[in-house]
Amino acid sequence: MALIPFDDRDGFIWFNGKMTPWREAKIHVISHGLHYASSIFEGERAYNGKIFKSREHSERFVRSARLIDMDMPYSVDELETAKYETMKANNLADCYVRPVAWRGAEQMGIAARQTKTHVAIAVWAWPAYFSTELLENGITMQTSQWRKPAPETAPTASKTACLYAIGTMSKHAAENAGCHDALMLDYRGLVAEATGANLFMVKNNKIFTPIPDCFLNGITRQTVIEIAHELNIPLQETRITPEDLMQADEIFLSGTATEITPVGKIDTHTFNVGPVFKQIRTRYLELVNS
Ligand SMILES: Cc1ncc(COP(=O)(O)O)c(C=O)c1O
Repeated sequence: MALIPFDDRDGFIWFNGKMTPWREAKIHVISHGLHYASSIFEGERAYNGKIFKSREHSERFVRSARLIDMDMPYSVDELETAKYETMKANNLADCYVRPVAWRGAEQMGIAARQTKTHVAIAVWAWPAYFSTELLENGITMQTSQWRKPAPETAPTASKTACLYAIGTMSKHAAENAGCHDALMLDYRGLVAEATGANLFMVKNNKIFTPIPDCFLNGITRQTVIEIAHELNIPLQETRITPEDLMQADEIFLSGTATEITPVGKIDTHTFNVGPVFKQIRTRYLELVNS
């Protein structure tokens, strides 16, 4: 399938408060965000005109900025209005929503107090991340050589651009090995997450998920925990070693983009696409569409 470049599309991008034609939403090459990764973003999905957990995403956007010492010129309410205005301008009801904020070109160097925070919101149609066939068989993963950093070495609770460099490299390595995604361990060698989604394992009808102390506590992850409570499926947040993981009956991922996705294989170990995953996914799809 031919890629449509993201800078050459029709539509409108909300750009520092103004609805701007898509191709004109540009920044200068001397932007602090580009050189020093002083940038944060969100990934959200709208279903039937309603962004799932929209306010939680806007709140995380503001929090992500604060965690990297960046001012956020817009309130949660203003961001909420802007996201829906952007969907309306593009005539989209089912779409991905990408707010992004970055330090501008007003000052260059590590210290960046004089920079302004710029904010843009783009939306685009993005159907299911993985094909129906993969939802039946599960995706394949390869354990990455890279590890998620300790919380005292990086702003790990922020959805900030700088944390994604290892994700891109890990995902490329996994794809080169014929896999769909990478399994990230943390600085202790414990199971952390995928490159853009959180991870759950099922053993003897009980769900286990790593404690999010050095990676994003995803909004979908929190929804899965709520669903498990609602469905009376026992769930424990705990430390998971790679050896524990390989003993799992089922493994699945959660994330806004990937929704609830089963894992069929990690390295040489295979896993069933099982009943617990199916129950959680069914309820998730009900919730996002309600
Ligand atoms: C690294 C990483 N972990 C987890 C997630 C899942 O977060 P959420 O469920 O809020 O989309 C994401 C996606 O935003 C991510 O990029």
